[in-house]
Amino acid sequence: MCKILSVSNQKGGVGKTTTTGMLAIGLKARGYRVLAIDLDPQGNLSFSMGADTETSATIYDVLKGELKTQFAIQKTELIDIIAANILLSSIELEFTDTDREFLLKNALQPLLPLYDYIFIDTPPALGILTVNAFAVSDGVIVPMLSDIFSLQGITQLYETVERVKNRCNPSIAILGILLTKHNPRTLFSGEVRGTVEMIAKDLDIPVFDTFIRASVAVSEAQSLQRSMLKYAPKNNVTLDYTALIDELVAKGV
Ligand SMILES: Nc1ncnc2c1ncn2[C@@H]1O[C@H](COP(=O)(O)OP(=O)(O)OP(=O)(O)O)[C@@H](O)[C@H]1O
Ligand SMILES: [Mg+2]
Repeated sequence: MCKILSVSNQKGGVGKTTTTGMLAIGLKARGYRVLAIDLDPQGNLSFSMGADTETSATIYDVLKGELKTQFAIQKTELIDIIAANILLSSIELEFTDTDREFLLKNALQPLLPLYDYIFIDTPPALGILTVNAFAVSDGVIVPMLSDIFSLQGITQLYETVERVKNRCNPSIAILGILLTKHNPRTLFSGEVRGTVEMIAKDLDIPVFDTFIRASVAVSEAQSLQRSMLKYAPKNNVTLDYTALIDELVAKGV
């Protein structure tokens, strides 16, 4: 059965897009059929996966119902992807009816038999796009920086997931908080990890055992539209995301 996972945090620059891309290409390399969906008008995932955002169909056309979902899939060298561009930002204004949480869910139904995993990269906001992602997701992965500002938004994110759970998707679960760009050697980051674990425990959210270290190779690979698995196979970040996939698989995701 197809698993749909969202990568979400309303805070910007925490590693959502990077995590989505790394998990998608990592699972594809293990032989799974994987689709990535860029649900962020910034189009960062589309760019880093080598998709066209100028002339090809995007998720915006799909959500507007102007195109069958299958026809929006681009097969790049790295991954199967439905791209996004800035047009997507007008969805909020264009859809005002009560069913607008289900635009993505309805659009994805025909793809479920075709993929083992669908990964959705969400924008840094808890608006209608993120709610559409939650409405169709089995699980949410929450990348987070080990700094104090990051902790402040976590309750709000949790409440948004709970609202979606109660209203329209009882099976959604937060799979865990993923510490990114984490430097375990500083004393301070250890303290933040402790605080993250305390807050997460209060909210009953797991924290992944795996954390992701920092490396400039990440943005280099993204600018070159290359896979980290090939660009820097022995890099700490590549090893960490491989460990994260092992952890997810071990937990039955
Ligand atoms: N482990 C890492 N080590 C070093 N740099 C990283 C790492 N992960 C992500 N980055 C860099 O940090 C920046 C932000 O990452 P990313 O785009 O994945 O975050 P985001 O949460 O998707 O941002 P936004 O909220 O704008 O969508 C990018 O320049 C990316 O290359
Ligand atoms: Mg992003």
